[in-house]
Amino acid sequence: MANFEIVVGSVLGASEYVADALQEVLLSHTHSAEIHLTPQLSDLDKDATWLICTSTHGAGDLPDNIQPFVKQLKNQSLSKTPFLIVGLGDSSYDTYCHGSILIESIMLNSGAKLLHPALHIDVLNHPIPEDTAVKWLTGWLINNEKTA
Ligand SMILES: Cc1cc2nc3c(=O)[nH]c(=O)nc-3n(C[C@H](O)[C@H](O)[C@H](O)COP(=O)(O)O)c2cc1C
Repeated sequence: MANFEIVVGSVLGASEYVADALQEVLLSHTHSAEIHLTPQLSDLDKDATWLICTSTHGAGDLPDNIQPFVKQLKNQSLSKTPFLIVGLGDSSYDTYCHGSILIESIMLNSGAKLLHPALHIDVLNHPIPEDTAVKWLTGWLINNEKTA
């Protein structure tokens, strides 16, 4: 059993739905998983696996609710922290999924370890983003359980 911290960046609620669906998957695989809708670095266990789930808004910007957290991340040492990342975006924007790409690079610069290539969900082609996210996470969990 592992401990997951689910960090959400959302304006309109779609990433929140995805986070809820991913929490259910983790719980059904007997992991623990807490959702953070107003994420604060001090509330997160750095030894847990962080699952970051964020959309992109504006011109490639992060949702307001996750911006303070991202500021707190800069210049952190996260060498013990494994993470996964799911970005929601719309491929008609030049800045497709830029928010999640930015967080991924900040996490990597802080020494955190990406466990699986990021999932970018194009909401133009995936009208139910949580279905895509659930498939992705379930595949990764099953593969991990086999190799554990
Ligand atoms: C005003 C506005 C600006 C957006 N800007 C971007 C963008 O720059 N890049 C992108 O990939 N998606 C962009 N999107 C698409 C959103 O990321 C997408 O609708 C997502 O599902 C919203 O998730 P949320 O409800 O969790 O915020 C934008 C959507 C809106 C409404």
